[in-house]
Amino acid sequence: MRTKTPSESRTVMTDMVLPSETNPLNNLFGGELLARMDRAASIAARRHSRRITVTAAVNHVAFNRSVPLGSVVTVEAAVSRAFKSSMEIFIDVWMEDRFTGERAKANEAIYTFVAVDDTGVPTEVPQLDPQTDLEKERFAAALRRKQLSLVLAGKMKPSDATELKALFTS
Ligand SMILES: CC(C)(COP(=O)(O)OP(=O)(O)OC[C@H]1O[C@@H](n2cnc3c(N)ncnc32)[C@H](O)[C@@H]1OP(=O)(O)O)[C@@H](O)C(=O)NCCC(=O)NCCS
Repeated sequence: MRTKTPSESRTVMTDMVLPSETNPLNNLFGGELLARMDRAASIAARRHSRRITVTAAVNHVAFNRSVPLGSVVTVEAAVSRAFKSSMEIFIDVWMEDRFTGERAKANEAIYTFVAVDDTGVPTEVPQLDPQTDLEKERFAAALRRKQLSLVLAGKMKPSDATELKALFTS
């Protein structure tokens, strides 16, 4: 199976914030942003694996800045590490001010997707070869994030999470 680069899965979705997608403060509703990120991440996972992919976990979401009504929002997703059947997807969210056009980082998130066959059974995915410094940094930290996610889901014993433990003991 051919190793792939993050740019082969990079998915960029640009859309605006409409009134039906806002909260009472006229900012983008969090659940709407989660759905947009899930969609972009799903396409990135498919581009990397060329398989059916399902969301296995939302590992991290930070709503650092509110996104006002009328903003142009760009959701950028790419595979940050591939394991056996699972892929970590890193998502960066940018917003464009409607008056000045200035682009600012609004949010980021990390999702885990799993490639499955037609019957829903996990299936192997290509490995990832990170190219840039940022891609290498995200790749390096992905294993401990996977272990944390599995520990929190009750699918791994904390004593087996070696990479994660090293963070606290080194
Ligand atoms: C995701 C799913 C396929 C995993 O199936 P499973 O029987 O647990 O399979 P496995 O234990 O072999 O796990 C498959 C991979 O997912 C990873 N995984 C499972 N749960 C995970 C979690 N919470 N966090 C991170 N990785 C996880 C495993 O580590 C494994 O990775 P690897 O093959 O790269 O080593 C299965 O739970 C599923 O179909 N869930 C529903 C998905 C769905 O419907 N999503 C939409 C939500 S509305």
